[in-house]
Amino acid sequence: MELRHYLQFSDFTPNEYEYLFARTRWIKDKFKRYEPYQPLADRTLAMVFEKHSTRTRVSFEAGMNQLGGSVITLMTRDTQMGRGEPIEDVARVISRMVDIIMIRTYEQSIIERFSAHSRVPVINGLTNEYHPCQIMGDIFTYTEHRGSIKGKTVAWIGDSNNVCNTWLQAAKIFGFSVHVSTPPGYEVESGRSDTGDTGHFETFADPLDAARGADLVTTDVWTSMGMEAEDAERKHDFEDWQVDAEMMRVANEDALFMHCLPAHRGEEVTAEVIDGPQSVVWDEAENRLHVQKALIEFLLIGRTIV
Ligand code: CP
Ligand code: NVA
Repeated sequence: MELRHYLQFSDFTPNEYEYLFARTRWIKDKFKRYEPYQPLADRTLAMVFEKHSTRTRVSFEAGMNQLGGSVITLMTRDTQMGRGEPIEDVARVISRMVDIIMIRTYEQSIIERFSAHSRVPVINGLTNEYHPCQIMGDIFTYTEHRGSIKGKTVAWIGDSNNVCNTWLQAAKIFGFSVHVSTPPGYEVESGRSDTGDTGHFETFADPLDAARGADLVTTDVWTSMGMEAEDAERKHDFEDWQVDAEMMRVANEDALFMHCLPAHRGEEVTAEVIDGPQSVVWDEAENRLHVQKALIEFLLIGRTIV
């Protein structure tokens, strides 16, 4: 079978996502009926965490166990990586011992170097630049609640971070628009927005304008992991980029609210919104489990009959 990695959202075609979401539906329904599905007995997933995690760790570990496989979790500081072993050597060694690897790290270039030296599929569990598994879960969640996301408008309010960049890649693949509003100085980096030419990306100085008429309003922390030194400055710069009831009022009547979590109530979102009726954040978190099971199965076995 051809070796495939999942390093960014654009690594899969629309047709592959269509398959993965159909497969997710099947896997999720089976899980909800308490019917075991264990095609990955004797297979091992290694997870490498260079940053903190709750959802990614639990969803990958539970998912791999549910598929019949086992999991090894490595925190950088406990391994030789923490003492400077080159990432290329770590990839060569781990990939001779396990069947699939998930990494959460800093620069995208690290995961690219790792995957270039890996004999087995590598999954991006978040980098500074991208978080593809999150947006797979988010689009599956949108579709469960509202049907196809094609032609819809997603409002991104706040920092132009890894999650925002991944929404921009997804817009091109799924044919929807992203309306982005960031504070001055925190705009989407050029090169991330190559969706501009296809009309899937628009920027707004005022976050209310970005939210107006949106089908989905979404945001994320003001300070991502690795940027803690900027926290005080960011709290000041982002204070007008809070998703609140007024922002949800100008969005479409049936607009959903999403947040990849962890959230800071009173900063990027009010408690009223995240704990309110339009919020689907708990479904969004749960669906990480189901989409990633479909992803692991796809990378290890390929297409199976739905
Ligand atoms: N959304 C997400 O990836 O959460 P964790 O940082 O808890 O894994
Ligand atoms: N943008 C956040 C996402 C956390 C899941 C971060 O990188 O810290």
